[in-house]
Amino acid sequence: MMDIKTIGIIGAGMMGSGISQVTALSGFEVIMMDVKDAFLQRGIENIKRGLDKMLEKGKITSEDKEKTLARIRTTTGLEDMALADFVIEAASEIKELKLNIFTRLDEICPKNVILSSNTSSIPITRIASATKRPDKVIGMHFMNPAPVMKLVEIIKGRDTSDETFATVKSLTEKIGKIPVESKDHPGFIVNRILMPMVNEAIFALMEGVASKEDIDTAMVLGTNQPIGPLALADLIGLDTVLSIMESIYKETKAPKHQPCPLLKKYVDAGNLGRKTGKGFYNYQ
Ligand SMILES: NC(=O)c1ccc[n+]([C@@H]2O[C@H](COP(=O)([O-])OP(=O)(O)OC[C@H]3O[C@@H](n4cnc5c(N)ncnc54)[C@H](O)[C@@H]3O)[C@@H](O)[C@H]2O)c1
Repeated sequence: MMDIKTIGIIGAGMMGSGISQVTALSGFEVIMMDVKDAFLQRGIENIKRGLDKMLEKGKITSEDKEKTLARIRTTTGLEDMALADFVIEAASEIKELKLNIFTRLDEICPKNVILSSNTSSIPITRIASATKRPDKVIGMHFMNPAPVMKLVEIIKGRDTSDETFATVKSLTEKIGKIPVESKDHPGFIVNRILMPMVNEAIFALMEGVASKEDIDTAMVLGTNQPIGPLALADLIGLDTVLSIMESIYKETKAPKHQPCPLLKKYVDAGNLGRKTGKGFYNYQ
């Protein structure tokens, strides 16, 4: 099994910054990449906020915080991934974008480096086909917020090797997470079950079954979920929810997976949830 010291993370959004925080806190050197300095800056601010919360709760010391931040380098150049021993891609959930990133990573990264994707719904086998190393491409699906949620789904594509799987499983455990293995089927385990529920809640809102507050309250108090499905959609990002439903629908063609038109309207209006300050709820 290869020795991993430096982890390259593509995308400094909600997930990329969270995964950078988790891996750096576990002692790995991190190179976090995004397309603009402003996005990297926003990612670093997220990480600082996350570490401050842990500090307040007494989970880390201020020395841990400083050391963690010192382990994270940022870049807007994908070519810097040449220095990474392992890559986690967490860029926007757009298939063409990810395929392009993986083709470039395959050219940039040494041949032994595993290229993983945090995709929520794009088939790993398809992503692997953009490279000449499908045996070293794998899904490593963190949950949101990555620093808090314990689970990582690991997904083998058709050609992913057992050695690659073993390395990712061991890395997942090293960073304090609990792995489960899922087949490369649409939505894997969690989103296959969760996203149709979120989509159905949006249908219920569109059809006037109840107010958004009552839909969320009903699901929190009636099914013991920590957060209602509409508030959860705002947390995930409505663009991400839409992309996930579209990918699952494209793969299954099942009518039950058709994205709700109201979800599309919110995305068209640029109301993407917490990250834009407005979704089903107002965060400004
Ligand atoms: N939001 C969730 O709850 C959640 C949970 C698990 C997995 N995911 C997956 O994680 C990935 C990222 O989602 P997110 O919620 O962090 O989205 P986000 O919109 O918060 O962040 C995406 C980031 O990717 C960057 N990006 C776009 N093109 C890029 C490129 N060519 N190179 C580098 N960076 C690029 C964007 O600038 C942005 O900062 C997606 O694949 C998503 O499906 C999301």
